[in-house]
Amino acid sequence: MNAVFPGSFDPITSGHMDVLTRAAKMFEHVTLTVMHNARKQGKHLFTLEERLEILRAATAHLPNVSVDSFSGLLVDYMRQQQKSIILRGLRAVSDYEYELQIAHLNRQIGDAETVFIMAATRWSFVSSSMVREIASYGGDVSEMVPRASAEALRAKFADVYAERSGQTVSPES
Ligand code: PNS
Repeated sequence: MNAVFPGSFDPITSGHMDVLTRAAKMFEHVTLTVMHNARKQGKHLFTLEERLEILRAATAHLPNVSVDSFSGLLVDYMRQQQKSIILRGLRAVSDYEYELQIAHLNRQIGDAETVFIMAATRWSFVSSSMVREIASYGGDVSEMVPRASAEALRAKFADVYAERSGQTVSPES
């Protein structure tokens, strides 16, 4: 059985990676599909091409995972690809209300079934938006994202990271 893991992935986090690697053991194939989230209109840090590049690098070691993008309704993508299982990760109860609504709607309008995997508790506080915010001030996000995302964030905020490392005063001085 195959599954589609849709999301904004701006950028992919360790929480996404945890859900993905566990799903890759359960499904024959998982497609990570970058989709448009109307609630995040104009708020993306990375372009679609950058996000795809990060996803390809972050998932290169997973042979049954591929990367794709689509700009319409998720259910249309599912139909087009002849897939019926949507995979989503849940971090905490706060995710549940939103995910429940979307899962029901996707079943109503497209007969697509949603399967949830609970992200490990160590990632329950990690979100792409928080990671972007920390990185925008030059903070260390290397534990919270795969290496490809960390490198892309460092490149995006190169000036801030350079300035912040210059400001750091070592305890001996
Ligand atoms: O990572 P995100 O932003 O939580 O992912 C949400 C996403 C992109 C999966 C969702 O917004 C989506 O499915 N967008 C495609 C448009 C669509 O089908 N909308 C109806 C369901 S909200």
